[in-house]
Amino acid sequence: MQTEVIPSENKGLDLSTLRKGLGQSFFAANIVFHKLTDSTNNLAKKLAAKGAPEGTVVLAEMQTAGRGRMERRWLSPGYVNLLFSLLLRPPMKAEQVFGLTMLFALASIDGVKEESGLESRIKWPNDLYIGRKKLGGILTELSVRSNDVEYVVLGLGLNVNWNPAGEGVILYPSTSILAETGRVVSRERLLIRVLKMFESYYRQALRGGTDEFYEKWNERSMLLGKRVKIKAAGGNMCGNASRVDRSGALIIVDDSGQEQKVVCGDVSVLGIQDG
Ligand code: BTN
Repeated sequence: MQTEVIPSENKGLDLSTLRKGLGQSFFAANIVFHKLTDSTNNLAKKLAAKGAPEGTVVLAEMQTAGRGRMERRWLSPGYVNLLFSLLLRPPMKAEQVFGLTMLFALASIDGVKEESGLESRIKWPNDLYIGRKKLGGILTELSVRSNDVEYVVLGLGLNVNWNPAGEGVILYPSTSILAETGRVVSRERLLIRVLKMFESYYRQALRGGTDEFYEKWNERSMLLGKRVKIKAAGGNMCGNASRVDRSGALIIVDDSGQEQKVVCGDVSVLGIQDG
């Protein structure tokens, strides 16, 4: 549903509401907020290199060089959406980080559902979709030493109170919570929900791995059963998406009937433009 509702909440994020709502969450302790930065992922990585602690949240209203995967830009007007990055220092191996991206995607769609009632889906590995339109995207970056993770930065761009129909520059079909529901939601409350949800999933994963999320992330995946094309450094591959495995990798059945494990690359689904 497209709408002409104009957000009344055109003011900066209220950090005291955010801190209060986060309460005892480890994300409450180190919130770095900038009205304008190049990219919250860039800033989070700079802070990480200077020793910023696990749980640091870097938030911005506007980015001059917001980035997505595959060197795409992330465009968002100021004061209406959520643009933030989380710094984590999980004691894990590099290959386990896929699981964290999936948990962050799950927490994001669960937070959206709780705050607005909207059902969104994960387009493996890092996109949030409603129908054929993109609601948000995750950019995961990591630093490793001998395959041990030093830090992970999880960045999320989530379209909240934006009216994509009114924008001149759109890279792919986009939507927002406002465009879908006609209602402006509190960005602070939404962010609190996503962060608290993610913190609980993250702690569970640190205790027992990501196995217990396997069913949930498959239920919430929009690719399964669909014919997909994977563009990867080694070439393109087509097949039917079968499941997201316990590590967070995509399993597809290729045209010769063999299962292939896909750990990176760009997935396009027939009828859905790349995003
Ligand atoms: C994608 O769609 O490929 C991922 C988009 C990720 C965008 C977010 S906005 C906050 C954070 N800072 C960035 O520069 N990128 C991520």
